[in-house]
Amino acid sequence: MIDENGLLLRGDGKLYDDMLKYVKEFLKENDGEVTKIFNYPFRKRSEHTRRVFMWARRLVDGESSINKEAVLVSSIFHDVGYAISLDGSKHAEDSALICEKYLHDNGFDAGFIEFVSYLVKNHSNKFLMTSDDIPLELILLMEADLLDETGALSILWDCMAEGGKQYQSYEASYKRIVNYSWESVQVNPMVTDKAKAFWDDKQKLVRDFVKHLSWDLAIGESSSNSERLYGSF
Ligand SMILES: [Fe+2]
Repeated sequence: MIDENGLLLRGDGKLYDDMLKYVKEFLKENDGEVTKIFNYPFRKRSEHTRRVFMWARRLVDGESSINKEAVLVSSIFHDVGYAISLDGSKHAEDSALICEKYLHDNGFDAGFIEFVSYLVKNHSNKFLMTSDDIPLELILLMEADLLDETGALSILWDCMAEGGKQYQSYEASYKRIVNYSWESVQVNPMVTDKAKAFWDDKQKLVRDFVKHLSWDLAIGESSSNSERLYGSF
């Protein structure tokens, strides 16, 4: 059964909440919560999962001819395989296996399990986004995944990463924001109109932020220029 927000319901409990809890526990128990690639302890996989689920909900809202539940369930399970995938390279396949088992154990029908498993297994093949040959559900899942940790959240990540260093400066943080947050939003990889608009908003926010910050820090202004404009202090 589906409620007015496109959420699956069973009895009095929300299945999505149960799934999010299951994935969070699975990651925690298998030491898969914190990304090991770089030393950013504030980046929690279960929080990424929740945000990708949230982006997926925004993207499926208003879509009428797709399997919304499949997009939402796949968004919850798409990265759970990091818990058992040692170097992360097989995480999508491992996520699909964990997801299949969960859905099977919880009585979902075979066709639904097969489709969700296909979405999870293929979510990392971002080159497929430009293919005409893939279901809209997979595009929406990949868009939701890519929208996380961009824009405002990306700037926050850059600042926290710089704040964890021994030597800190506003200029170093500015440089990092230009090199990561700004670089990462320059090309809009989204496919659907709604996701493209979300991305454009993020791009504008980062552009404005960088512009303001460079003005605040007088980046590129020589002291002689400043003196000419404002006099010396
Ligand atoms: Fe992800």
